[in-house]
Amino acid sequence: MIHARIAGTGGYLPGEAVTNDDLLKRGIDTSDEWIAARTGIRARHFAAPGVTASELALVAARRAIEAADCAPDDIDILIVATSTPDYIFPSTATLVQNGLGIRNGGAAFDIQAVCCGFVYGLAMAEKFIASGSHRRALVIGAEVFSRILDWSDRGTCVLFGDGAGAVVLEASSVPGVRATALHADGSNHSILCVPGNVASGKVTGDPFLRMDGQAVFKFAVKVLGEVAQEVVDRAGVSHDSIDWLVPHQANIRIIQSTAKRLKLPMDKVVTTVDRHGNTSAASIPLALDCAVRDGRIRAGQRVVIEGVGGGFTWGAALIDF
Ligand code: UT7
Repeated sequence: MIHARIAGTGGYLPGEAVTNDDLLKRGIDTSDEWIAARTGIRARHFAAPGVTASELALVAARRAIEAADCAPDDIDILIVATSTPDYIFPSTATLVQNGLGIRNGGAAFDIQAVCCGFVYGLAMAEKFIASGSHRRALVIGAEVFSRILDWSDRGTCVLFGDGAGAVVLEASSVPGVRATALHADGSNHSILCVPGNVASGKVTGDPFLRMDGQAVFKFAVKVLGEVAQEVVDRAGVSHDSIDWLVPHQANIRIIQSTAKRLKLPMDKVVTTVDRHGNTSAASIPLALDCAVRDGRIRAGQRVVIEGVGGGFTWGAALIDF
């Protein structure tokens, strides 16, 4: 049987940290106390004007490839999860493939599952590898959410940041990604969305992120608890065997509630929401990369990742490192 293992991780945050107080200085009617108490966020990063998702993705990808000790041309499938692509087309993945100098004719495509995009991408890559059709995948989450924020809406603009995270997954005889679960429920599409589109060369409708925060909060708490348990059950392992939970980083209160459901103390949960804000599809691979590089996540350990995003989409994976 062919398994897929994580061989390397990489991450990239653009520019300097922008604190909650910096947002006040930019004229947003908010406070550090409100943001920190409701979300756990203290700072986030924003890409400079003109910097695109593919540029952030490229830096994270190079770091992941270096950590995996392989060459760009060893990557035969490249998946980018993003809701803020450089263009309508070509895909951000093909731009990253070109930037990396990959000329092996391997597959490259984007997926759109908003904040759950990385989990979707990882689950897909695992299935390509397990089928024997591909040997080495690069899965990236990359976002410039600052481009779709309405700076006059304090209920959303303080929550998000920009960044990219990446992992290299490779074929192995030893189990790595042991279980995945992906779900969607389109009936909830309107509680978190960017309700605009491009037609005849113009943006029609509203091009900014809109969210019913309380509805999203309740939905996220419910499905994240369920899906984390689902992958634990599918893998047939016990809660005690989980070393780390690496959740989507949207809100510390949502994260605490999922950890409780999994019976995990918070010192087994990787949190970056305080420093990164919500970087959507990039949040999980960025958090994974932080914990791998600072030595918390080590070879032989067991990790659960989980995410939820607009659509609604949600999913999880149980991974042995
Ligand atoms: O990737 C998934 C993405 N999204 C999420 O995970 C978000 C899930 N939802 C949440 O995290 C929370 O709902 C929020 C943090 C977004 C909001 O917290 P809340 O406790 O649901 O606050 P609220 O929207 O009910 O607003 C409460 C008050 C309101 O004032 P009044 O009407 O009570 O006077 C808001 O105007 O807080 C006010 N408010 C703010 N005050 C200071 C809203 N945003 C801000 C702000 N600074 N940035």
